[in-house]
Amino acid sequence: MRGARITGWGIAMPPEVVTNFDLEDKMDTTDQWIRERTGIGARHVGGMTSDLAAEAGRQAMKKADATPDSIDMVLLATTSPDQTCPGTAPTVQDELGLDCGALDIQAACSGWVYGLITAHAFIQMGMNKVLVIGAESLSRITDYTDRGTGILFGDGAGATVVEACEGPGELLGWDMGSDGAYSHILYADPGDTLKMDGKEVFRQAVKAMIRSTNAALDMAGLTPDDIDHVIPHQANIRIVESAWKKLGFTLEQTTMVLERTGNTSSASIPLALNDALAHGRIKKGDKVLLLGFGAGMTWASAIVDWQAET
Ligand code: COA
Repeated sequence: MRGARITGWGIAMPPEVVTNFDLEDKMDTTDQWIRERTGIGARHVGGMTSDLAAEAGRQAMKKADATPDSIDMVLLATTSPDQTCPGTAPTVQDELGLDCGALDIQAACSGWVYGLITAHAFIQMGMNKVLVIGAESLSRITDYTDRGTGILFGDGAGATVVEACEGPGELLGWDMGSDGAYSHILYADPGDTLKMDGKEVFRQAVKAMIRSTNAALDMAGLTPDDIDHVIPHQANIRIVESAWKKLGFTLEQTTMVLERTGNTSSASIPLALNDALAHGRIKKGDKVLLLGFGAGMTWASAIVDWQAET
């Protein structure tokens, strides 16, 4: 039996930090309002998506002891590609000196989980190592005169190496879904900034998290009580709290980095995963739920039986 598991991980954050107090100078808002309504305190901004992605990818490959010639595919989840065309994944492939296929995934904030599941499928087809990256430079498409969106987003990247292994591997259950009827509640037209109906996004996000978690749990034959650790998309702490009330998870078993990163879309889950691993919050044998939702609407969940030494 051939499975797959995550063997390496890494991140990249641009050095510039914009605090809520910095935003008070740009728009009619306060640190207190942003913290209470979202849980965000600061966000990193700057850099190009490809550079952030390559740096995170380099670290993940180092951790996995993966040489450039051993990577069979780059999957780059991003909502803020360097250019409309070509894709940004080939630039990352070139920056890392890889010799393989390279594909952008545009599934907004669910993109990295879509990539993780897709990597598992490619490994079933015979590939050995897939580099899965979530990277964003959302500050390039954020309107800092709009207090409804300008407070939320940040830049950064997180990457993982997914590698073939003997046995069933780590993926116990998964779910991917979308509902394009909600594309108008969060979108950016070409050359324009992000527009959002915040209240409706909030409502749909909570629904999507509950529905997707239940679908992945059903596939895995598990209940919420079996999950040791949860890493949700980092959009708003209140969205997470609302979904957890229905699902029965606690904030103690949840990794949140939102306070210092803001919403980094497809980078947010691998950024939080790296943080959980760096702080010893995930151990070998833990069942970890990775849960994304975002514009589209899209949603995706993966339940992994964590197998790497941390
Ligand atoms: N600073 C200060 N006041 C603000 C503000 C800001 N940045 N943004 C809105 N307000 C004001 C509003 O004008 C309104 O004032 P009023 O009562 O006088 O009319 C009041 O605060 C409440 O606004 P409301 O829009 O009801 O706030 P909210 O609790 O819904 O929070 C969001 C707004 C955007 C934080 C929230 O809807 C949200 O997080 N939605 C999901 C967004 C998201 O996660 N998007 C990405 C998904 S991947």
